[in-house]
Amino acid sequence: MCGIFGYVGGKDSVSILIEGLKKLEYRGYDSAGIATISNKKIHLEKSVGKIADLESIVSSKSRISHIGLGHTRWATHGQPSKENAHPHLDCTGSIALVHNGIIENYEELKRALCAKGHVFRSQTDTEVIVHLIEENIRHGLENAVKLALKKLKGSYAIGVLYKNNPDKIIVARKGSPLVIGIGEKENFISSDIPAMVKYSSRIITLEDGDIATVTKSKVKIFSATKTSIKREETLISWDPISAEKSGYAHFMLKEIHEQPKAIIDTIKDIVDPSKKNIKFKHLNLKEKDISNIKRVVLTACGTSWHSALIGEYYLEYYAKIPSEVEYAAEFRYRMPIVDKNTLVIAISQSGETADTLGAIQEAKKHGAKVISICNVFSSSIVRESDGVIYTMAGPEIGVASTKAFTTQVAVLFLLSIFLGRKKNRLSKAKFLSRLSSLFEIPHKVEQVLASEDKIEKIADKYCNANNALYLGRGEGFPAALEGALKLKEISYVHAEGYPAAEMKHGPIALIDENMPVVVLALAGRRYEKILGNIEEVNARGGRVIALATEGDRLITKKAKDVIFLPKTRETLSAILAVIPLQLLAYYIAIKRGCHVDQPRNLAKSVTVE
Ligand code: F6R
Repeated sequence: MCGIFGYVGGKDSVSILIEGLKKLEYRGYDSAGIATISNKKIHLEKSVGKIADLESIVSSKSRISHIGLGHTRWATHGQPSKENAHPHLDCTGSIALVHNGIIENYEELKRALCAKGHVFRSQTDTEVIVHLIEENIRHGLENAVKLALKKLKGSYAIGVLYKNNPDKIIVARKGSPLVIGIGEKENFISSDIPAMVKYSSRIITLEDGDIATVTKSKVKIFSATKTSIKREETLISWDPISAEKSGYAHFMLKEIHEQPKAIIDTIKDIVDPSKKNIKFKHLNLKEKDISNIKRVVLTACGTSWHSALIGEYYLEYYAKIPSEVEYAAEFRYRMPIVDKNTLVIAISQSGETADTLGAIQEAKKHGAKVISICNVFSSSIVRESDGVIYTMAGPEIGVASTKAFTTQVAVLFLLSIFLGRKKNRLSKAKFLSRLSSLFEIPHKVEQVLASEDKIEKIADKYCNANNALYLGRGEGFPAALEGALKLKEISYVHAEGYPAAEMKHGPIALIDENMPVVVLALAGRRYEKILGNIEEVNARGGRVIALATEGDRLITKKAKDVIFLPKTRETLSAILAVIPLQLLAYYIAIKRGCHVDQPRNLAKSVTVE
């Protein structure tokens, strides 16, 4: 949800800002802009569209500057336009500001500022901040920012430049992420870590309420209580190459192919080398806390919510703990009934999703223990939780989440058998056999990826359909939901996921010869039932694409197209099943000419409610 990048140092700031913004483009891509200082003047360049459009504008100007701020926008207030693109200037053109977040009381502030004679050039909520700073600039830049922030309600990560202080950037955050990258006689600011890894592995994550002054040689941070404060530096181990496309056409395709490695890295971070014991390094749950768990609530948004649904099955099946899944945005405003005996598990790739963060805060208010499953080190969700289990997927840049999902499911599987063991509800022998089944999954994912050509051909056949149904049972149902979401978000084809048995309670009315129906017909307890559902679709002329387990001869007679998956434990088949669904969505989107890494209207981290 909007990306901020900033630089101060000895190099050419313009090219660094453009490069940094390109890496943040997945956070928003409807318009972009940069502000730099040279010859004691603020210079502003903006454009509607992608960073490449902005790049062609700035490259036609030969301006040398060593300090600047950039922004890539995902519109909330005011349509995508040059006027609404950030940075925004005060009335005198002396102060430039970039913002990620939402200022909830901006209308009231704007009215008051207009009454004082301020002239607004955009329809954004952001612009009030820069005029508020202007109001107080006579007190000095830092004080002016502090005074302005006091008036704001809502969330923000901001960067500010002032022409009279051409050596410093002021940054601040509340509810939106911002990190500082420490360099040699240069420093960087960014909305997130993946955009930073090329420049610095020494990261300071600002806390809510922090304000910092960043010059090329110093970072000074003040906490919400105004005292100067030292924030820990974290050393990030992500290598810069992992944030590049490495020869793949799109990040999404690269990340789909990275899943075997992402899953094994995640498992190895949790299971000791003997492959017999599970140790969560940062779980922070004592034996007593574990024995007190009477109920689990899993909460998340989007794809992470789908992995939570699979987690619910696992926790009930292996650990016999009553579990339920809540959309984070619903949970947080519903006065949920949770207490100290409830374990809340918040799941998030980015660690910055505003609703998931809000759900954690709500759960903690009621005394629940909260652990998160997260892919980004020291992100807001991690810091707000009592404990964390990291997925080791590496940076996920493609807007459509892929490797985060499969690694989250692997973690949920490990957590469930761990709790099952701790609570004596799973025998040692069963625990070990489940663990060894999980270790086989990365190789089986590789086998599924080998069907890519076949999946591309299936995509060819169905890419012109305007609707699709995805059906599954058990863990196959969340996988069906995830397959439908992938198709919707990157190809703009209307798709719905359903528990297969529910189809006859309504969606069956949609089935005709134009309706592709993707059915997860995987071996296991529910196989016979799902065959019955396929017959119901066939009887109405629907076109069935089945995902089935290798060796299943019957299915080829019942489905128009079949994608075979290697045999695995039934509970783990959802991990394998989701891979062809990701590829199917990818190739359908490509054939429809869609921009898979930057689908319209979407952003990678949803840092607004
Ligand atoms: C879909 C997708 C989104 C995210 C959701 C939660 O492909 O990426 O639905 O899953 O916005 O994001 P995180 O996991 O970062 O909290």
